[in-house]
Amino acid sequence: MKSIDLSSYRRIVFFTGAGMSAESGVSTYRGKGGFWSQYDFEEYACQEAFERDPEKVLRFHELRRKAVLDCHPHDGHRVIAAMPEARVITQNIDGMHQRAGSRDVVELHGSLWRLRCEQCGAQKEDLKNDYETLRCDCGNWLRPSIIWFGDMLDEVVLQQASEMIASCDLFISIGTSGTVWPAAGFPAIARNAGAYCIEINPEPSGAIRYDLVIREPAGVALPKLFQAD
Ligand code: APR
Repeated sequence: MKSIDLSSYRRIVFFTGAGMSAESGVSTYRGKGGFWSQYDFEEYACQEAFERDPEKVLRFHELRRKAVLDCHPHDGHRVIAAMPEARVITQNIDGMHQRAGSRDVVELHGSLWRLRCEQCGAQKEDLKNDYETLRCDCGNWLRPSIIWFGDMLDEVVLQQASEMIASCDLFISIGTSGTVWPAAGFPAIARNAGAYCIEINPEPSGAIRYDLVIREPAGVALPKLFQAD
């Protein structure tokens, strides 16, 4: 595989999904052994579940946090972090890009490391293994700041991501099945904007016609694609 000549591009966007973290050991959502084949989202990942039993939902997310902290960024994450001029838009909630050193990551689906209070609007960053507290200072339960099934995406975040993609000239989609909207529509925005579009995914995602398709895992493909000649 020939590496990319970065001097030809001025606005680079990496768009990542669960497959980006697969080689770190974080489960993907779909496919063999996928997260949603093991856990019922109606029990753990929707507003109704939280309202029914907030503590159960919070403890479940606490386990996810611990599982993620046992995993570590791989070479692919580091290749992206070494390009600070590139923008990273992720569907992942695991914070792995940031742990590799990426800054200003646009987190479309929220983060395992943030909580919010729906009563008073407080936001809380919480980075440790266990939640520091499950309750807000106002006494209400804190809710993981994650886009669950049935939730709308944050309009501001969505707008920011759409604008970045609509003005990019190199778009690299990595490890997403392209099944969850509105993120599934992002590759088409890049395509329509005339960006050079690359997909890195061992399996076809069928989103758009890419200019370059790399059927390899992210941790293998990214170092090759962006190696200095
Ligand atoms: N490198 C690159 N891609 C990989 C790798 C790898 N090592 N391993 C698996 N993949 C690909 C799979 O082939 C699949 O296409 O990653 C993709 C993972 O797809 P999903 O599990 O559907 O993940 P994603 O597209 O991020 O899901 C979107 O769904 O449940 C929601 O909110 C959740 O953000 C998530 C959203």
